[in-house]
This record gives sequence, C-alpha cells and structure tokens, in this order.
Amino acid sequence: MKRLKHIISTDQFQNAKNLEKIFQLADAMEANDQLGCVPQTLAGKILAAIFYEPSTRTRFSFEAAMAKLGGNVLTTESATHFSSVTKGETLEDTIRIIGAYADVIVLRHPQTGSAAVAAKVSTVPIVNAGDGAGEHPTQALLDMYTIRKELGRLEKLHIGLVGDLFYGRTIHSLLRFFHLYKGIKISLVAPEQLKLPQKYLDLLKKQRIPVHQTDKLESVVGKVDVLYVTRVQKERFASIEEYEKVKNAYVIDRAILKKMKTKSIIMHPLPRVTEIDPAIDRDPRAAYFRQARNGLYVRMALLDMILNHPAW
Ligand code: NCD
Repeated sequence: MKRLKHIISTDQFQNAKNLEKIFQLADAMEANDQLGCVPQTLAGKILAAIFYEPSTRTRFSFEAAMAKLGGNVLTTESATHFSSVTKGETLEDTIRIIGAYADVIVLRHPQTGSAAVAAKVSTVPIVNAGDGAGEHPTQALLDMYTIRKELGRLEKLHIGLVGDLFYGRTIHSLLRFFHLYKGIKISLVAPEQLKLPQKYLDLLKKQRIPVHQTDKLESVVGKVDVLYVTRVQKERFASIEEYEKVKNAYVIDRAILKKMKTKSIIMHPLPRVTEIDPAIDRDPRAAYFRQARNGLYVRMALLDMILNHPAW
C-alpha cells in the first residue's frame, strides 16, 4: 500500500533539513510561477477542502496551489451547514467517504485533536488546516519560510509572540519549530488571561529555549527581529464579556513601529481586527501580506510532496 503522509502537527518535522527541503521546493514553485510555467505535477489529482470553521487564506491558497499544479478541487466552505454533519454524520464517516473521492483532504475543524482523529480512519493523506486551539502546521511552515525569506536566516533570532497566546493555534504550531535552530530566544507578550498555556512553557523549557514573559509590548518591541502578532480568538471564549476585556490588548501602530529595529519584520497570520493599524501597511517591515502570499508556494510544495513523493 502507498505510504500516507498526513500533516497533523509541526512535531512531525524533526530537523531543519526537512524544512529546508520544503522551503527550496517552495522557492522553485514561486520561480516557475513567475515564469508562467508551473509543471502540472498534480494533473488528475483531487483535493477535498472540508472547512467547519471560516477561512480565507488557508482554503483559497490550498485551492489555488492545487489549481496551479494542474489538479482539481472539491470544496465545502461551511461543512457544518453544507455536509451530512447536519444529518448527524460523524467526522470519521465523512472522512471515510470523502477519501473515496479525493486524493488528499484538507480539514479545518473547531475541535482540538480532530485532525488526528480523521487521520486514523482516512485512506488518503489528511492536512490539518487548524484544529480548534490545537495546531495549524501549514501556517507554521509558511511562517518559518517567511522569516527565512525576509531576514535571510532562521538562526540567532529574537522572536516576539504577541496577543492571544492561549488560544492562538498558529503560535502553538510555530513555537514547536524553534528548537530546530540555534540561538532562538522568544519574548511572550500577552495579558494575564491570554498567556501561553503551561504545557507549551514546559516544552520550551525542556528544549532550552530562553523565554521571557511580559504583558508590556513596549518593553520588547525595540529588541525583536520578528514581531509575530495574533488576533484575539473571539470564537474560543466562553463568554463575550471575557473577550471584551482583552480584545484591544495591543495595537501595532506608527508609534510602536518607530521603536522597532530597522531590520525587523512584523508578521500576522491574518485576519487582523484591531491589532495592526492599516497605517503601517506600507512600511517595508510590514511583512504580513507577503507572508500570506508565501502560503501559496509553501502549500504547492507540500501538496506536490504529499501526493508525488510520499516518502519525503
Ligand atoms: C489563523 C487561524 O485560522 O488560526 N488564520 C489563518 O489561517 N491564517 C489565525 C486566526 O484566525 O486568527
């Protein structure tokens, strides 16, 4: 039987060499795309995108990636309403059925651990496009790719993670990569209610990554090479009152930008709400739209690897 390669957690990528392979392929995808000659290596293949939560970048970039490589897409953007889930079908059954029609399934689901559940029963590769407050591994890959591309290195970096570190799955996936590179230290900037869960602090400690925690953004902005900002994850709060208390915790604006190093970048997985003032979008350090674009090339690389080179 063909070996399946699911992408469930960033823990799967155990060394920097693995990542470099993906990044080099993503570079090649971009170069080919700019020349208008992307090899149609996924012709005849079908990707199914099943999204039980909203998405713009992740779903469209996966679909665009598949299309650029000559493949086809089956999609349901609101799977809770437009799939047999409304009739009571379980996630496992849905995955079994869709696996009979598609060659790869990209899944976003509100429950932590859902992608792993899907992978257990799936006959085709599952790509975790976000499982609740759990992980978002392809985002983390494109985030690392963006840092490499923007700053020219992944070692010796001071990375500031800002905002909703409690529920933010992009952060939970991204921080698992840092131990693969030398000299990374991190500053965690969050209000008390949104601090990084203890299990991740324990992991970083075990991996000997220097961690500094604060709720004061001003105290770190002048020191970091990467300021990774996140949205407060409204949909994960138990009550709207709890959300209201912290929703405007940090805003990156011109005043903050003035304090940052000239050679530094601001990243955000997007969507942003109020945490980045659009007035700074034109600053060369504002990397978030380039970051979103990089998602296309990283996902082209991943789909090609999953479907054509299952042993990578
Ligand atoms: C993120 C997500 O869905 O976790 N978005 C994305 O995929 N780019 C971040 C968010 O929703 O805040």
